[in-house]
Amino acid sequence: MPLNRCKICQDPYEEILSFGKMPLGNGFLNENQIPNEYFFEMGVGFCERSMMFQLTNQPSPEQMFHGEYAFFTGSSEGMKNHFHQFSEKIINNLPATDQETFVVEIGSNDGTMLQNFSNRGIKCMGVEPSENVAKEAINNGIKTKISFFNEKVAEEIQDENGFASVIYAANVMCHIPNINSIFKGISILLDKNGVFYFEDPYLGDVINKNSFDQIYDEHVFLFSLHSVQFVASMNGLDLINAEPLTTHGGSMRYTLCHKGRFSVSENTNKLIQKEKRLGLNRLNTFKSFERNIKRIKEQLLDLLLDLKNKGKLVSGYGATSKSTTILNYCGIDHSLISWISDTTPTKQGKLTPGTHIPVVPYSKFKEDTPNYAVLFAWNHADEIMQKEKEFSRNGGRWITFFPEIKVI
Ligand code: TMP
Repeated sequence: MPLNRCKICQDPYEEILSFGKMPLGNGFLNENQIPNEYFFEMGVGFCERSMMFQLTNQPSPEQMFHGEYAFFTGSSEGMKNHFHQFSEKIINNLPATDQETFVVEIGSNDGTMLQNFSNRGIKCMGVEPSENVAKEAINNGIKTKISFFNEKVAEEIQDENGFASVIYAANVMCHIPNINSIFKGISILLDKNGVFYFEDPYLGDVINKNSFDQIYDEHVFLFSLHSVQFVASMNGLDLINAEPLTTHGGSMRYTLCHKGRFSVSENTNKLIQKEKRLGLNRLNTFKSFERNIKRIKEQLLDLLLDLKNKGKLVSGYGATSKSTTILNYCGIDHSLISWISDTTPTKQGKLTPGTHIPVVPYSKFKEDTPNYAVLFAWNHADEIMQKEKEFSRNGGRWITFFPEIKVI
């Protein structure tokens, strides 16, 4: 087995879990693209020094966040509201800086979040590598640099605009292998009294829920307060607050500042203690996680095979990027799940990455109602259960898999 080196501290670490050959989580494809479909060996490891849970191997960022990146933040009402609420919170807590307030978003997508600042007349700009989404932001009047963020880009932005009062990144930091360069860039660009906020799926939720579908090519890291403290400290920053969020099946929002500028919140210390009890700082924790997910795999396959033998129609609900991990790791194809309905027009008519299950419009779920529906969009369960009461009333059953397999 090749020696893995921690992307944060360069210490060697062992792979703890191998998922085998995996396609891109978001790699929905047409039939004629199957012969050239991209796969990589997906595994995860835990560095005992930095306490970072990380992919051992992943495609290059250019392969994932290219000119045709499919996700537009503005297409999700839930995320639009989430960002609006957070922008209000940022505006109400703007740090006292010597110069004009300046907000920078890393991975600004189509400018949905920054629009909230722009509407209030606050100077802001975004940095976004995917050209198609960045152009959408520019067309909407949001200043956007089409680039990956790093030290050089941070220097350029600082030269042109001055220091940033607030830097913000949502569901971005966990995507970037060279994360030290991002943190270095932040310490260059951030005003001495400025704050950096970022939010990403939280390792504590993954371990509590066994939600191993959070592990896919785009999630190079799953952060904890322990690992964020380590990487921040290496780059001259302090973690001063953390706030659990319900988005993406369980996330954490971190607040950082220049070392020694502000005091660490009581809540941060409490969450650190909670992580110690959960074992997020210890390798052994991940060994039991491995056992749990192997059990989920076996039980899900047994259930789907049994339903197939009984002649039941089983569909999937929500062709999420996360479902790519479950489907490929468990080896679930078209013979076990007939189709997956999804409301996203760009996914409809395509096949799921690696397992080639047809993705169909939501109308199919209503017209050709299945006996069983696997809830791949489990992170939207409340909204979906509310919307689909009729499915259950008519005898339809949901299959959920975290923290254990359940038929509801
Ligand atoms: P997300 O987990 O990245 O938000 O993706 C959710 C996917 O599930 C997205 O492709 C849209 C789909 N979806 C539905 O098909 N129906 C729904 O009611 C919801 C909430 C999501």
